[in-house]
Amino acid sequence: MLPEIARIAEIAAGAKPLPFRVGFPQGRNRELTFYQYHGPISGAIFRSWGEHMPEYVAQSQWSSRFAFLMAAIGSAVGLGNIWRFPYLAGENGGSAFLLIYVAATLAMAMPVLIAELALGRMGGGSPIGSLRHIVRENCSSRFWELIGILATICAFLVLSYYCVIGGWTLRYVYLAIGGSFAQIGNAGSYAMFTDFMADPMAMISWHLGYMLLNVVIALGGLRKGIEKTVVVLMPLLFVLLFAMVIYGATMPGFATAVDFLFTPDFSKLTPFAVLSAIGQSFFALSVGLGSMIIYGAYLDKGANIPGCAVIITGADVLVALLSGLAIFPLVFSFALEPSSGPGLLFITLPIAFGQMSGGALTGAGFFLLVSVAALTSSISLLEVVVTRLEERFGMTRSVAAWLVGGVAWALGLVSLLSFNVWSGVYPLAWLGMMKTSSIFAVLDFFCLNLLIPVTALLICLYMGWVLAKGTIRDALGFGGEASFRSWRFCLRFVAPLGIISILAVALLS
Ligand code: PHE
Repeated sequence: MLPEIARIAEIAAGAKPLPFRVGFPQGRNRELTFYQYHGPISGAIFRSWGEHMPEYVAQSQWSSRFAFLMAAIGSAVGLGNIWRFPYLAGENGGSAFLLIYVAATLAMAMPVLIAELALGRMGGGSPIGSLRHIVRENCSSRFWELIGILATICAFLVLSYYCVIGGWTLRYVYLAIGGSFAQIGNAGSYAMFTDFMADPMAMISWHLGYMLLNVVIALGGLRKGIEKTVVVLMPLLFVLLFAMVIYGATMPGFATAVDFLFTPDFSKLTPFAVLSAIGQSFFALSVGLGSMIIYGAYLDKGANIPGCAVIITGADVLVALLSGLAIFPLVFSFALEPSSGPGLLFITLPIAFGQMSGGALTGAGFFLLVSVAALTSSISLLEVVVTRLEERFGMTRSVAAWLVGGVAWALGLVSLLSFNVWSGVYPLAWLGMMKTSSIFAVLDFFCLNLLIPVTALLICLYMGWVLAKGTIRDALGFGGEASFRSWRFCLRFVAPLGIISILAVALLS
């Protein structure tokens, strides 16, 4: 039986009125609402919302505040916190870097996070749909629709290569369980990583497996996919992380690690370190890629956005700190190098796991933690693009999810191959500073240092300077005037200043 007819039969049998969506090309989606009525088609009310149809996405709503917080924290907490933060801190003098990172998160990234959640709730659609709706409703220039477009492009690009690294994390869970870390020395661990990098087929399989996980979750939609995943995985992530920190606290290197992370040494703080800390604060909080816009679109009107943003930010910073407290005790206890850069997670840590008793289990637990963090982030990137296709072309979720997952996977191959077959290809070699940057590195640089800052800057300008103050105040629901004013001050002045400096350095250097 056609689903429509099945639905009509259900309603005829006494079901409640149910909105029913039908997609047409050109985004002219329609919504049908069937009322309990004992004469099938004639009981259908036909409604149209024109092109952007924000109501369609807003039909899906988080089932609880807890589910929203887990999803948003899941999006924020990712490879950025567990992989990037510790190695950046390790390279840039530990605690001094940490201080700048926390300050930048509070004064720059969090205000933009609040703005993104609010844009989503005001627009009620995908980032592109939401912005289009808000721009029209407020008679702003269509230029500001660029925010949604840039965010979507960036989410798609980051998704493509984020899933490559996601594949590595799955592979390392497998290696740890199989006992591959046992007694592995410096050279052994290095070889294990480089051998994997040199084997495109192995990388492609793990990359494919990781992408399939994402698509399967997206197929379930908001409640059966994203929510079900995050309400199980996020608590698991916290349990694993606390277990790792407690374990770290029993290691001889714990005191050195605490000292390293919490005693500021400003002599090591170069201007470059400051800018990396600011850039990191945006990426780690998932700002500028539209994920928080779409998650905000699923929020009910009563949700207190600033309050939620404080919780999300607090959890995000906490995870970065705890990751540092889980990783550095191992590094110091086994006399390894804290400033070993991106290899810290995949090369340095297996050496520590290989030397400790119960290292297979701890190592597997740790890499599982990293995969969970990555997965709950990448699903939020996928959601940005999937919802746009549903909204614009009336695609079903499964078609949209397979399409976006498939194309992002194929594009990811370009990044993947730049670790082996194309490792000598430097697309921007003519640019001095990118002389030896692989395709992956160029893409990462382009997204992190250009696209995300530009999108975040446009959000600051639109919300801080263009939209009427009253509109925003109503949309946000700040508790008091003082907190509203400080938020607005940060959004109008502090965040743009930080973003412009990152951009200036990225462009000038
Ligand atoms: N915040 C994620 C991390 O720290 C990255 C991310 C950015 C994920 C934007 C989704 C959206 O790894």
